[in-house]
Amino acid sequence: MLSMKDIEITFNEGTLDEKKALQGINLDMEKGDFVTVIGSNGAGKSTLMNMVSGSLKPDIGTVKINDKNVTMLPEYKRSQFIGRVFQDPMAGTAPTMTIEENLAMAYARNKKRTLKVGVSKKRKALFKEHLETLHLGLENRLNAKVGLLSGGERQALSLLMATFTEPNILLLDEHTAALDPSRAELITNLTGEVVEQFDLTTVMVTHNMQQALDLGNRLIMMDKGQIILEVSGQEKQQLTIEKLLHEFQRIRGKQMENDRAILG
Ligand SMILES: Nc1ncnc2c1ncn2[C@@H]1O[C@H](COP(=O)(O)OP(=O)(O)O)[C@@H](O)[C@H]1O
Ligand SMILES: [Mg+2]
Repeated sequence: MLSMKDIEITFNEGTLDEKKALQGINLDMEKGDFVTVIGSNGAGKSTLMNMVSGSLKPDIGTVKINDKNVTMLPEYKRSQFIGRVFQDPMAGTAPTMTIEENLAMAYARNKKRTLKVGVSKKRKALFKEHLETLHLGLENRLNAKVGLLSGGERQALSLLMATFTEPNILLLDEHTAALDPSRAELITNLTGEVVEQFDLTTVMVTHNMQQALDLGNRLIMMDKGQIILEVSGQEKQQLTIEKLLHEFQRIRGKQMENDRAILG
């Protein structure tokens, strides 16, 4: 469904600031796979997301969606089948527009329809139905400006708008990190529900290890632009934060041994 093969991305190549942000990334996802991504700051997690969304092109390697090579396909052409939610609640929605207008925009993008001025009764009913699934009462506030919503409400709306896309790849980049713990938990639960409901193929970056363990059927750990650990299925279910930290230290230790060996 989504496949990345031998991906390399280097920033500022040939300069003192050269940074290998992704190196030898290989990841194959089936439809409905939900991969959580953890790793330290600068590990390459957001670069990976940007590469899948098409906002960054790999220097080397191939990205395929449904067996179609999309490596060079621009972001706007991918956006109709990739939904994204960012860390910043302000990023995913238009604050001066109403809830209804925001939903209409997301809907039009997906259906490749032009945005009509009014919203038909039928569509209004559909939007209400979608909003009800969030359990935030937003279905009664269709005409409220999105800029007036709380961060949690906006992230919930962003999530909903992201799911209006097909064939349903969902990219979440620390989308709960800016929220207070109770709102973060709400959005975490909502994420699980939405992914299941729409059978979305999902990649979620998170700083929260517990969230990475609770959600999804697969987990990857990134470090220095590489995938250094991959766990799935039952092994993932049995994983704990302690084991994960232990594994990280073990791999780091091994890397340091290798570095020392190379340096002599
Ligand atoms: N546009 C850019 N130009 C130069 N360097 C970048 C750019 N984007 C990211 N980087 C660098 O690439 C590395 C990976 O960044 P990023 O993918 O944002 O990490 P993460 O999301 O895991 O914290 C970092 O060292 C970062 O500074
Ligand atoms: Mg990041």
